[in-house]
Formats: sequence, structure tokens, C-alpha cells
Amino acid sequence: MFIPAVSNSARHVDSTFAVILAIEVFLLFAVTATMIFFIIRYRKTRNPRSENIEGGMLLEIAWTAIPTIIVLIMFFIGLKSFIIIRKVPEGAMPVQATARQWSWQFTYPNGKQSSTLAVPLGRPVKLILRSLDVLHCLYIPAFRIKEDCVPGMETYLWFTAKETGSFDIFCTEYCGLGHSGMLSKVVVTPEKEFTAWYEGAGEKGGLGLTLLESKGCLGCHSMDGSKKIGPTFKGLYGSQVTVLTKGKERTIAADEEYLKRSVLDPGADIVKGYPNIMPVIPVTGEELDAVIQYLKTLR
Ligand code: CUA
Repeated sequence: MFIPAVSNSARHVDSTFAVILAIEVFLLFAVTATMIFFIIRYRKTRNPRSENIEGGMLLEIAWTAIPTIIVLIMFFIGLKSFIIIRKVPEGAMPVQATARQWSWQFTYPNGKQSSTLAVPLGRPVKLILRSLDVLHCLYIPAFRIKEDCVPGMETYLWFTAKETGSFDIFCTEYCGLGHSGMLSKVVVTPEKEFTAWYEGAGEKGGLGLTLLESKGCLGCHSMDGSKKIGPTFKGLYGSQVTVLTKGKERTIAADEEYLKRSVLDPGADIVKGYPNIMPVIPVTGEELDAVIQYLKTLR
């Protein structure tokens, strides 16, 4: 209603919600009205002595049957949209969605990786959800879909985007310090634009930036000097950093060697004032070089 509804299932989820809400609003008013009526009708001045009322077969059948029917109506309406959400159509494009503290990574059938989810307009997409650490939950409000990412298990979601644009992706399972920052976007473009992106090389900024995005580094490190879960990348190269090495404080130069060590063995030197929570992120030697070359440019 307030959030755009732009997927195949959104309309069904919204109508289910509307029906249930209508029933609830009706019941709220019915119960409240009955209550007020009883308060007035059976007030103490009119009924000084309370009576014990027994029996009322018809009434008992009615208040058992009517709620049962209402609940079953809600169940079947809900089931209808649930089946739509769970039944993946043949030929849906599979995209691996990997959750990690605290970023999303999307891997396409051709091996392309991205931290935002680019999808073509009008074509079904199946997200295969995995978690590398703790429970996360992928939620796209505009598509009305949501599913947990469970460590050691594979879950899925599917959708067909009905409008172009950029829509929020949230993590809706509390997953630690960076949970609220575990954001991404789904970017819906016409098939032609999507294909150009899909078949094209990395985005502008070169391999270094693409890697920082796709490996999820930017979930915890900013490039503009602002403080996130981890220290910023801006001006990092060549600066002096105060770190804790095996619990001992020391000040060292952030040279190439330091940067490499911080990626390969994140717990070796902990920058003072930050928690020791960075996971080991698998990178090849080539990728690491590209990242470091790029970091050098962030003055
Ligand atoms: Cu991931 Cu909350």
C-alpha cells in the first residue's frame, strides 16, 4: 500500500493482507460494540443480582462454527498466495544469494558477482539462499517476499519483477553488530540493459572496486571517511594506524604488507577502537593485488 508492489506475488500478498485486516477490523468493532451494549444493558442499577445462565445449544454451535469458517477462509486465501510464492516456474534464472556478516553477495550462472541484485524486467528469477555464518533473512518489501538464510542449509525465493527501478533489500533477522547496515538493492532493468550488464565486464572503477563491492567489504568499510563497523578505506594507505597485535598496542604504517595481512589474517592486527570480527574472505593473489592497487587510490 505505502510500499510499491512490483512483483508477480505482491498483489496476492496485499489482497490476503487486506482480507485479513478487514475481518479483524470488523471483529474489533463487533466485540467493542457488544461490550459497550452489555455494560449499559446489564449495569448494576438495572440488575442488582447476577444470574447464572445455562444452556444455549444454538449459541454454542454458532460461536464454534463461525470462527472456524472465518479462520479457514483466511487459511485458504493465505495458502493460495503461499503456493504462488513457493512454486518456482521452469526456466527461472538461478542466482546464488550468499549472506554473511554483514553483506549480500549475488552470483550469476555465468560466474558474475555483485553486491546488488540486478535482474531483468518480466523474467522469473530464483534466488538460492545461503549463509556463511549466522541466521540472516533476505527481504524485498516491494516484492513482498522474505526468506531466512540458514547456515548449512539451502533455502529459496523466486519472483518476477513487474516494474523497472531500484528497490530495497533488507536483512530482517538480527545477525549482530552490523545487522541494520546489511542493506542492498534489487535493480530491475529492461532485458536489453540487463544483458549488457550481465555480459559486460566489471563496473567502472575497475576490478578493485568491483571486488570490494562483490566480496561485501563495503558492508563494513566506507570509502568516504565515515566510520562503519570497521575503519574507513579513505586515506588508509600510507597512513599510521594504531593496532593491537596479540593484545599489545603499536603504531605501524599501513603499507602494502599491512593491507595484505589484514585481508588474509584479519585477526593479526586489530585497529584500536574496533572489534575483532572480520571474517577471512577467500581471495586469490590476483584479486588481492587488484584490491590493494585500488585502495592506494582512495586518498
Ligand atoms: Cu544479516 Cu541481519
